[in-house]
Amino acid sequence: MPVDVAAEILANRPLSPDYNVLSLAAPAIAAAATPGQFVMVKAGGGLDPLLRRPFSVFEILRSGDGTPSGITILSKRIGPSTSLIYNARPGQIAACLGPLGRPFTVVEPPSEAFMVAGGVGLAPFATLAEALRARMVKTTLFYGARRGDELFYLDFFRALGVDLVLTTEDGSAGERGRIVAPLDARLAARTAGAPVMIYACGPEGMLAATAKTAARYSRPCQVSVERIMGCGMGGCYSCVVPMLGDDGTFHHVRSCITGPVLPADQIRWD
Ligand SMILES: Cc1cc2nc3c(=O)[nH]c(=O)nc-3n(C[C@H](O)[C@H](O)[C@H](O)COP(=O)(O)OP(=O)(O)OC[C@H]3O[C@@H](n4cnc5c(N)ncnc54)[C@H](O)[C@@H]3O)c2cc1C
Ligand code: FES
Repeated sequence: MPVDVAAEILANRPLSPDYNVLSLAAPAIAAAATPGQFVMVKAGGGLDPLLRRPFSVFEILRSGDGTPSGITILSKRIGPSTSLIYNARPGQIAACLGPLGRPFTVVEPPSEAFMVAGGVGLAPFATLAEALRARMVKTTLFYGARRGDELFYLDFFRALGVDLVLTTEDGSAGERGRIVAPLDARLAARTAGAPVMIYACGPEGMLAATAKTAARYSRPCQVSVERIMGCGMGGCYSCVVPMLGDDGTFHHVRSCITGPVLPADQIRWD
């Protein structure tokens, strides 16, 4: 069950002029969250913006004895809510509801895991990488950004034994270009029967291209979709995604409760 907490802001770490990591004291959410779930957050007590915004649970914070004590969110500043989050100060209170939504299904060996992240789409993969590591699943992170200085937490993933494949649009780090190109190349190099689960989060175009690539190589793919969400709990229908139903036709499902993690081959991408 999701809980609604007035969470104290423990820390706010800027990573760049747009990105920051906000730490929130939210033990009940931290204890219940699983990889791929999200929280609805609003920093600041004002009425503008009125509604909370969805953010993936980025990290689980733990006290000295390992008890979950809070969460972090990785935020990219694009509008009023993410600006409040960027400028929030420790000691302030943020409204935080969660954990919400359906998580990733975590594979077991002998399957490998390919995590595909575009920009702030990195957010759900820190907890997923930890869960995969606990199961000893060989994991690769394909991570694309606009520039090298927007590739974050690389040492965190390396410390978990994750193999990193990086791309930037300007070529300042990793390969120049889009992240789906090296994904395609790695899949092409795998023997047809080798089990690989693909996980993806990022801009819609990247998700569609990843879904297409996964289908070309007959690999399962779970995508975390990022639709505009008004409530996060199934009440407002702002977040619908066209999905293939059992009757063979497409129906709009609410991605906040049916997702945000959805099977890529059942989504209509056009
Ligand atoms: C399940 C889920 C998890 C998310 N996790 C994260 C996360 O971990 N970190 C993070 O930084 N962001 C995440 N997002 C996106 C985040 O919710 C939006 O960036 C945020 O709502 C923007 O709020 P704002 O008030 O700053 O800007 P707004 O004024 O709400 O938006 C600014 C502009 O961006 C557009 N926009 C807003 N939300 C989206 C969206 N989801 N997709 C495409 N365009 C959008 C708006 O139409 C507007 O044009 C997630 C979204 C979902 C659905
Ligand atoms: S966000 Fe309100 S129904 Fe999904």
